[in-house]
Amino acid sequence: QAQQLSPAIRLNQVGFYPKATKIAIVVGESPADFQVTTPDLKKVVFKGQLSEPRQNSISGKTARTADFSALKTAGTFVVLIPGLGHSQPFEIKTDVHRAVAIGSLKGFYYQRVSVDLPEKYAGRWSRPAGHVKEDGQVLVHPSAVSPGRPAGTVLSSPRGWYDAGDYNKYIVNSGITTGTLLSLYEDFPPFCQKFQTNIPESGNQLPDVLDESLWNLRWMLTMQDPADGGVYHKLTNARFDGMVMPDKATKERYVVQKSVTAALDFAAVMAQASRIFKSFARNLPGLSDSCRTAAVRAWKWARKNPDQLYRQNALNEQFDPDVVTGEYGDRDASDEWIWAAAELYVTTKDDAYYKAVNLFPDTKMPLPSWAQVRLLGYYTLLRFEKTLTPVGKQDLPRLKHQLTGFADELIQDVDKQAYQTVMGKTARDYIWGSSAVAANQGVALIQAYRLTNDKKYLRAALTNLDYLLGRNATGYCFVTGFGDKPVMNPHHRPSVADGVEAPVPGLLSGGPNGNAPKQDKCEGYTATSADEMFIDASCSYASNEIAINWNAPLVYVAAALEALQTS
Ligand code: G3I
Repeated sequence: QAQQLSPAIRLNQVGFYPKATKIAIVVGESPADFQVTTPDLKKVVFKGQLSEPRQNSISGKTARTADFSALKTAGTFVVLIPGLGHSQPFEIKTDVHRAVAIGSLKGFYYQRVSVDLPEKYAGRWSRPAGHVKEDGQVLVHPSAVSPGRPAGTVLSSPRGWYDAGDYNKYIVNSGITTGTLLSLYEDFPPFCQKFQTNIPESGNQLPDVLDESLWNLRWMLTMQDPADGGVYHKLTNARFDGMVMPDKATKERYVVQKSVTAALDFAAVMAQASRIFKSFARNLPGLSDSCRTAAVRAWKWARKNPDQLYRQNALNEQFDPDVVTGEYGDRDASDEWIWAAAELYVTTKDDAYYKAVNLFPDTKMPLPSWAQVRLLGYYTLLRFEKTLTPVGKQDLPRLKHQLTGFADELIQDVDKQAYQTVMGKTARDYIWGSSAVAANQGVALIQAYRLTNDKKYLRAALTNLDYLLGRNATGYCFVTGFGDKPVMNPHHRPSVADGVEAPVPGLLSGGPNGNAPKQDKCEGYTATSADEMFIDASCSYASNEIAINWNAPLVYVAAALEALQTS
C-alpha cells in the first residue's frame, strides 16, 4: 500500500533532542498503530499506539498523540501511520535547534538598513542597501520640531533594522527586540561567544549577537534629540511603501513626535547596553558611557513629559503630512516606567530609580509584548539578584514567587491540550503576532528554569518551540527556511519583490490571529477557529507578516534551549 504525506500528522519539522519528549499530533480519524521509520519508510525503528483522542478546546476537533520519546537514536525519521500516511521528516540529534537559533539571529542581518547585503553573507538574498538617504536627508516632521530642530531641519539617522514586512523603524518595537537579544547575551554569555551567524563582523572581538544588536543600537542613539534628551517615536514614511525592494523605496522619511514610551524603552535598552559594553571598552571606547548618558537623559525627559503618549489620530488632526504607518501606541506607560527603572537601577546601583516608580503596582505578571514590558524589568532584577542593593533585595522573594507562580500557570493543564503545548490553551493567545505569544511564554519559562533549576519549565518551553516549528493547528513551520512545510509567502517586501522563490530565511511569521480576516481583508481565509486563522499569503499582514519583535524571542528560546540542553 502506497503511503503518502499526511497533513493530519503535525510535529516539529526540524526535530528533537535525543533525551527530550518527542510528540506528533494526529488530527481526526486515524488507525491507532504508529511507527517511526526511516524517510524511505523501509526501516521501522519504533512502534507505538496513539493516545486516546483529546478535544481541541478552540476548534472542537479531536487529536491524538503519538509519543515516541523512548526513541533516542540519532538520525532522520518520519512518523508513519499505516493506512493514513507519514509525517514530514525530522531529525533526532543533540544540537537539533542550533540551525534555527543561528538562522533566526541571521534573520536580523537581512533586515539591516543602510548597507549592501553581499552574496558572501546573504547568498541568494543579496541586495543593494536601502534607504541610503537616511544618511543626511531625514526630515523633522512638524510634530517633532523643537527650538533646536526647527522646521526644515534635516538629520542623519541611518542603520537599524526594518521593523517587519514594512521599511519603517519604530523605537518602541526596537526597544523590546534589542532588549531581548541583549538579555540572551546576559543570560548565556559563553554560549553567545560561540554563536556565529556569518555576518561581516563575525570573528571580531564581539559575539555576533552583540554585533547584530549594535547595528540597531547605533540607530537608536540617533533618535534622541541632543537638545532635550527626548526620543522620537519613529522614523518613517508618511505612508507604507509598495511591495518593492528597499533600494526602490525612496519616499521621504521623517522623525515623528517624541513620546514617553519611546523615551522609556530607549532608556531601558541604553542602560542595559551600557553595562554590557563596559566589558568591551577596549574595542568600543566610550560606547558604554554614551549609552548610560543617553539612558539617563531619556529618563529625565520622560519625568518631565509623563503624559506625552503617542496618538497617531491626534497627531494627524494637528499636523501635515498625515502619518499612517505603524502606531505602536499605548494608553498606559506604567510598564515602560518599570522596565526603564529596573534597567537604570541595575546599571547604576542608584536606589533613586528603584524608588521613583511603583515597581509592583499589583501581582499581575503580564506576558511581554511591544506594549507590555513590565516583565523585562523583573527578569533583569532577578538576573542580577546578587548585585542588588538592600532596597532591591528585599523584594526578591516576592518577585521569585510571582515568576514561578506565573510559570506554573503557564504549564498547568498542558497535558490536557490537544497539541500538548503551552501555547494555545486559550483562544486569546491567537492575536496579531501570536507566534510571539508562544515565544515569549517560552522566554518566561526559561527564566523560571534559571530561577529554580526545575526541568519541567524547560520541557514546557520546548513545547512552544515544537509549536512554532510545526506542531500546531495550521501544520506550518512558522520560521522561513526551516522544516518541510515552512511559510513561503510572508508579508515581507524583500521576499515578495526579490524574484527569489524562497522567502528570506530565518524570519518568524506572525501566526494565526482570530481577527485577521477583518484586519487585513486578505482573501482566502477558510478557517472557523482562531488557532487555524492563518494563510500563507503575502496579503495577509495580520497573520503572515514577519517582525523583529517576534524574531527576537524565537532567537532567545532556540538559543537558550541549545545552551541548556545536556544531551
Ligand atoms: O491586546 C488586545 C486584546 O486584549 C484583544 O482581545 C484583541 C481583540 O482584538 O486585540 C488585542 O490587540 C491587538 C494587538 O495587536 C495585540 O498585540 C489589536 O487588536 C491589534 O490591532 C494590534 O495589532 C498590532 C498591529 O501592528 C496593528 O497596529 C500588532 O500588535 C503589532 O505587532 C503590529 O505591528 C506592525 C506595525 O504596526 C507596523 N510594522 C509591522 C508590524 C507587524 O505587523
